[in-house]
Amino acid sequence: MNVTVLDHPLINHYMTIIRNKNTSSSEFKSLAKKVSVLMGFEVFKELLVNNHKIETPIENYRGIKIHEPYPCLVSILRAGSIIVDGLSEIFPYCSTGYIGIFRDEKSLRPQTYFEKFPKNISKRKVFLCDPMLATGGSIIKSIQILNSYDCNDISIVTLLSSEIGIKNVVTKYPNYRIYTAQKDFDLNDKGFIVPGLGDAGDRLYDT
Ligand code: PRP
Repeated sequence: MNVTVLDHPLINHYMTIIRNKNTSSSEFKSLAKKVSVLMGFEVFKELLVNNHKIETPIENYRGIKIHEPYPCLVSILRAGSIIVDGLSEIFPYCSTGYIGIFRDEKSLRPQTYFEKFPKNISKRKVFLCDPMLATGGSIIKSIQILNSYDCNDISIVTLLSSEIGIKNVVTKYPNYRIYTAQKDFDLNDKGFIVPGLGDAGDRLYDT
């Protein structure tokens, strides 16, 4: 399966603090960004590179540069923006897109309210960012929107995923890679990941 669970001691340490209900919103925000930065080292391994010759002060050097156009980080609002912030920290040349989605509390179906992308998004690699992959509905809806812009090179970056959510996404889109810091096995009847971390948007923005 095209799924990478980061499973790194530093990430697992920070995720334990993030999951703790007593962690403040400001610490949650700071650590969610830190985990996203750490994930970037794995996530950006996917980037294509080109040869690039330079001269060091001593002699010629055959180096590499990231292939252009640079990737687009797409934030699923609200909470996806914290992952975009983290990934941008280590590669600030990405463009950014936004998809506004919230989950209807009763039906759990995704409701979209906003979309804005760079003009040439179809030519860019997209990293679709959302801290939570619960039922997978928001990610699937976002992929449908991106596909409608002829954008087909998509990887998903999330902090916490449920087993069932991953299965729902992978069944529909087996070729799109999912990176998740950690994975949980259950969803409760309100569609929350169990044991999870609560509602990422509410915890990030203290709502
Ligand atoms: C949460 C979360 C994801 C979505 C995950 O957003 O940030 O976007 O739910 O659930 P799913 O996989 O079942 O679709 P929420 O609806 O709470 O919106 P918010 O980010 O604005 O709080």
